[in-house]
Amino acid sequence: MPRPERHVLVCLNVRPPGNPKGCCGEKGSEAVFDTLKAMVKERGLGDRIIVSRTNCLKHCSRGVTLAVYPENVWYAGVRTADLEEIFQAHLREGQPVQRLLMPDIPWE
Ligand code: FES
Repeated sequence: MPRPERHVLVCLNVRPPGNPKGCCGEKGSEAVFDTLKAMVKERGLGDRIIVSRTNCLKHCSRGVTLAVYPENVWYAGVRTADLEEIFQAHLREGQPVQRLLMPDIPWE
């Protein structure tokens, strides 16, 4: 297996309803994770792009939160409708999707 080009972490943390921190789980992170995994698999890129579930990435109110390595690019408010753009622009072409970048984190 070749060394993967990118690793995507998807926060699937769930908190009880009404928790003031909120969570990615209540914003559809399971669907985001499943959809992105399926996209990678269907396109035969499972050896190039790894998609992993993770617990809280500490930006709960901004979820669904994704982190992409090796670039260390973080996305906020990701929905399944955003995944095609992230997949094509960033995961395939290396161009982060500016409109979805996590605010208040300085990017180069
Ligand atoms: S619950 Fe997803 S970043 Fe905290």
